[in-house]
Amino acid sequence: MTASAIDRSGARDHGAPRARARAPRVVRVALAGCGTVGASLVTLIRRQRALFEARHGVTFELVRILVRDPAKERGVVLPRHLLTTSMDDFLRTDADVVVEAIGGFDPAERVVREALAAGRHVVTANKALIAAHGPALQRLADDQGASLQFEAAVGGGVPVVRTLRGELGGHGVRTITGILNGTTNFLLTAVAEGTRFADALRDAQARGFAEADPSRDLNGLDAADKIRILAWLAWGVDPSTLDVRVEPLPADPDPLAALAKARDGVLKYLAGAVRGDDGTVRAWVRPVIIPRDHALAAVRDEENAVHIDSESLGLLRLQGRGAGGSATASAVLGDLLGAVR
Ligand SMILES: NC(=O)c1ccc[n+]([C@@H]2O[C@H](COP(=O)([O-])OP(=O)(O)OC[C@H]3O[C@@H](n4cnc5c(N)ncnc54)[C@H](OP(=O)(O)O)[C@@H]3O)[C@@H](O)[C@H]2O)c1
Repeated sequence: MTASAIDRSGARDHGAPRARARAPRVVRVALAGCGTVGASLVTLIRRQRALFEARHGVTFELVRILVRDPAKERGVVLPRHLLTTSMDDFLRTDADVVVEAIGGFDPAERVVREALAAGRHVVTANKALIAAHGPALQRLADDQGASLQFEAAVGGGVPVVRTLRGELGGHGVRTITGILNGTTNFLLTAVAEGTRFADALRDAQARGFAEADPSRDLNGLDAADKIRILAWLAWGVDPSTLDVRVEPLPADPDPLAALAKARDGVLKYLAGAVRGDDGTVRAWVRPVIIPRDHALAAVRDEENAVHIDSESLGLLRLQGRGAGGSATASAVLGDLLGAVR
């Protein structure tokens, strides 16, 4: 037995990667947006530094952070010289990877397009942008020899993008069904336990599980963007033209939740997509009463879950924290590593 196979406590090393003798490769990261996701990413990069150096031989160095208000309190200490409000300054920064954590289209789309056009790898958490322009951005990335990663855009910390892009993608996926919106799942979990919807919404906003304006969560457009992205990855359909039949949550879901309870079921807000034998893809988002013993009934609070039925694997179930800064930032960090590999 070699000395390196035994740690100081005398326990055996069961194959954990050994510390690398060589200096880690420095990867320069420019971060656009430092709100819930961006600030959590900064914290995570700092916390995981030693692990990433030892295990992967890389260290992530933040070289520029684009924000609107440099004086804002963000819960993380940021050297002032890293912050900029100038898009031109940000885009000129020599970075290996650009992380886009602004959201929406303007100016997030410009950040992503210009970074890819300059041959930089891009990691984004932006579902609206990927649902609208994913294929075109992917072509741009491919043309430039850059990598476009967007795990955090669907399912927060649940690795569904990686799964569909990897061995499952294009190999006989038949249906995708899931809970893709953490905010509405948080609300419906509280309602199922007896809280009135209006009170649950106030609580969710106070605890950061719902935005001040939660309309895209409640009207199903957020989940529709996500199911579009999954349908693109599974079947190659253009997400921007895929017709998703969206039924919003009722303005007051309490009576429907009470009906679900009377039937020994649970009210969930589900999204799904199916490919027919003729190759057409149908997608939907709607409130559904499911049996209490259904696997999706056990998905609580801000959790997300995706069930993928495929010819090769049968039913695959993925479940985990679908929203919140740290779960989303952990998906972004995984993408950073994927990008530089
Ligand atoms: N939060 C989640 O749980 C979650 C989960 C999955 C995916 N996502 C996605 O992650 C992305 C970021 O979400 P978030 O919750 O972190 O948003 P957020 O808290 O609102 O943060 C947005 C950041 O972007 C900056 N920003 C906005 N407009 C800007 C502009 N014109 N110029 C420069 N900076 C600008 C803001 O700067 P200031 O701070 O100076 O205002 C802020 O730092 C979105 O695409 C979202 O859909 C979020």
